[in-house]
Amino acid sequence: MILTVNTTPFTDQKPGTSGLRKKVKVFQQPRYAENFIQSVFDSLDGFAGQTLVLGGDGRFLNREVIQVALRMAAANGFGRVLVGQGGILSTPAASNVIRQYGAFGGLVLSASHNPGGPDEDFGIKYNIANGGPAPEAVTEAIYANTLQIASYKTIEAPDVDLDTVGTTDLAGMTVQVIDPVADYAALMETLFDFAAIRDLLASGFVMQFDAMSAVTGPYATEIFERRLGAPAGTVRNGVPLPDFGHHHPDPNLVHARDLYDALMAPDGPDFGAASDGDGDRNLIIGKHCYVTPSDSLAVLAANAHLAPGYARGLAGIARSMPTSGAADRVAAALGIPLFETPTGWKFFGNLLDASLATICGEESAGTGSDHVREKDGIWAVLLWLNVLAARRQPVATIMAEHWARYGRNYYARHDYEAIETARADALMARLRGSLEALPGTQTAAGTVSMADDFSYTDPTDGSISARQGVRILFADGSRIVFRLSGTGTEGATLRVYLERYEPADGDLGQETAAALAPLIAAAEELAQIVAHTGMAEPSVIT
Ligand code: G6P
Ligand code: ZN
Repeated sequence: MILTVNTTPFTDQKPGTSGLRKKVKVFQQPRYAENFIQSVFDSLDGFAGQTLVLGGDGRFLNREVIQVALRMAAANGFGRVLVGQGGILSTPAASNVIRQYGAFGGLVLSASHNPGGPDEDFGIKYNIANGGPAPEAVTEAIYANTLQIASYKTIEAPDVDLDTVGTTDLAGMTVQVIDPVADYAALMETLFDFAAIRDLLASGFVMQFDAMSAVTGPYATEIFERRLGAPAGTVRNGVPLPDFGHHHPDPNLVHARDLYDALMAPDGPDFGAASDGDGDRNLIIGKHCYVTPSDSLAVLAANAHLAPGYARGLAGIARSMPTSGAADRVAAALGIPLFETPTGWKFFGNLLDASLATICGEESAGTGSDHVREKDGIWAVLLWLNVLAARRQPVATIMAEHWARYGRNYYARHDYEAIETARADALMARLRGSLEALPGTQTAAGTVSMADDFSYTDPTDGSISARQGVRILFADGSRIVFRLSGTGTEGATLRVYLERYEPADGDLGQETAAALAPLIAAAEELAQIVAHTGMAEPSVIT
């Protein structure tokens, strides 16, 4: 029954920040997906007879690769595969299914917020038994296997029906097609006060959720409209489409512009939110009030006790290094530790497993908690709704009260996209070379007090991740961070993170761009961005 198919390596299958992401055309090469999946299986030990979770965000190629993975899982000796109906599982839902069913691991088919369709992106990532992204040791082993692979195992069998919930046999392996939403929605009901949110939504409070024609549509419709009683139409773009309706399923102010405009309109809704391709990112906008991801983390941490799942308080808060220090002030006030990790959700896994942190967040629109081991878009929206239901104040008031207590971290990220890699590397190399001499330097934003290249030592296993981004601190607590993106597919992307702290008794009502103007000038002085990139302006400001 088992076929061993000879193959030769592809040299470009190195997993990035979040799995292997390539153009669909690359994945459509014969043996390309097979090579990678076999390389994943070959990096694992002891999965014979065990359970694998399988699903994706519904993008172009999702169903085909699921069939390939099912046949290969059977040939490689898995005992059971749990696959989401229609091939659908959001990233956080997959993380939950892995944990809840004690699976060995899972394959999630997604390229996150990258566009989908025949000329766009596809991706495969592997998650381990705790439900989280494979740590670096695993992804390095996978990569090493991709460079040596000589054959893969599969079986000859017709496609499995993915559309009917139920159990079938595939060459001795059980394939269980599961409702992708039910377990996840049940988990959410254990964390949040659904009755209070239902009352809020019945009281004239209007929300809008944009699923961006991506995976959260079915989750959002079930949870917000069916279980919480929001009117039909609350969820927009709620049907997952293979090409996301030709949009970027990226919940930011550029790609979720319609939602933003609706919330800024004079008679707009009270609350707007969106999520990305695979459902792990979130965008939060109140009436006339955009909430930055860094502020969202801080506000959610400060108010989490209002939700039943967090009523006992938080063990700690974790944020990625470029994320603003707003959450640090909340942690200090709560008397709990704050962990600063490199960019990438995988660095939170150990902290969550060790119960050192309860809530985590990143400036890149990710927030989550110890309920799963991925960031979770719908979870963030529900926690916001729970806070709003408990406090019965507009988002803008909640933000104003937060800043009045903790001060405000004005924050922006400037991205310079598709730079020639050599030029981006030269900029970073020059900055790194200047670090020692920088303290004491005068700039448009004042005197540099400290400069380094961030290095992280994991407190649970002592592993060290060096060269995670250049940090430049100023005497008044302001900060500029420079790093290169680890997720781009074209050239290099320079990210410049700008942050200025204004104390609680300071000027809390400034325009962000104006508040950050001296830092923007200092960033140019220090890094010579224009000269290095040839770009006068950032491609995107978030
Ligand atoms: C992915 C990861 C996030 C990370 C982000 C950073 O979305 O899941 O954890 O924050 O990439 O992307 P970047 O392009 O800045 O490396
Ligand atoms: Zn994502």
